[in-house]
Amino acid sequence: MPTVLITGANRGLGFGFASLYLREGWEVIAPVRDPANATDLQALAKAHPGKLSIETCDLANFATIDALGAKLKGKPIDLLLGNAAKTNNPASTIGDTNYEAWMEAFKINTMAQMKLAETFVENVAASAQKKMFFLSSRIGSKPPAGMILFRSSKSALNQVVMQLSLLLKPRGIAVACAHPGFVKTKSTADMGVFTVDESAAHLKKIIDNLTVETGGQFFEPDGSTLPIVTRQMNPAAFGAKAPDAWDAQKKVWDKEGTKI
Ligand SMILES: NC(=O)c1ccc[n+]([C@@H]2O[C@H](COP(=O)([O-])OP(=O)(O)OC[C@H]3O[C@@H](n4cnc5c(N)ncnc54)[C@H](OP(=O)(O)O)[C@@H]3O)[C@@H](O)[C@H]2O)c1
Repeated sequence: MPTVLITGANRGLGFGFASLYLREGWEVIAPVRDPANATDLQALAKAHPGKLSIETCDLANFATIDALGAKLKGKPIDLLLGNAAKTNNPASTIGDTNYEAWMEAFKINTMAQMKLAETFVENVAASAQKKMFFLSSRIGSKPPAGMILFRSSKSALNQVVMQLSLLLKPRGIAVACAHPGFVKTKSTADMGVFTVDESAAHLKKIIDNLTVETGGQFFEPDGSTLPIVTRQMNPAAFGAKAPDAWDAQKKVWDKEGTKI
């Protein structure tokens, strides 16, 4: 039976993922901030005896991630699903930026996702499926003005995902991220287009098909992709004057199979 670790499974999209993976026979590990008040998750655990374990973890407190890592040491985790995020960021206008809230957004939405990957990499490497998947947002990749705190934390997450994918590919671990669509959850005041079940089903299909070859991408719910980084690597365009260095780097990328 494969195992998935899902952050933020007490409500919203994370709860949709937990319900879906349980229905499909997976074992689910659900670290949440406040297990005692995760009543929907507790009911789900009762409906699936022995299949759902509710753990404690606050992504803003890295010691709790370390503690969970120690508790799960040696347990194979087929899929690390980084879903939880600080979605309730204050609106920022020029002259009114809340830097404390911005640091918290970066800590939870970007750095904690890296911390999760670092903490559970051996668990994922020891599994059959070997996947990591993170919930991003298309506003991390699109221009309309506003929501700079949340937007920039997700743009940075996309870079983390790209780097994880390159660094973990030699270990056979596939890493990617996705925009879940506009989903009816607390973060959208239930104004989304997709239900959590619909969005989770779209993304599960993408995760099912994910391989180390298709990793490093930022998916939309329909399976198409949004750009994370430029693929334009012509050294002349950015003033590089070292064709030898370019050739050497290109050989490395060719050997790795990295497409440029
Ligand atoms: N809904 C959308 O339309 C939409 C669009 C684009 C991207 N996304 C992304 O999809 C993911 C899920 O979104 P959602 O709409 O389900 O969000 P949500 O309704 O705001 O739920 C967020 C989840 O993250 C958890 N969380 C927040 N801070 C945490 C922390 N410090 N430690 C541990 N858990 C924490 C929350 O737990 P608590 O109950 O303890 O707060 C909750 O379970 C997020 O990454 C979001 O950015 C959603």
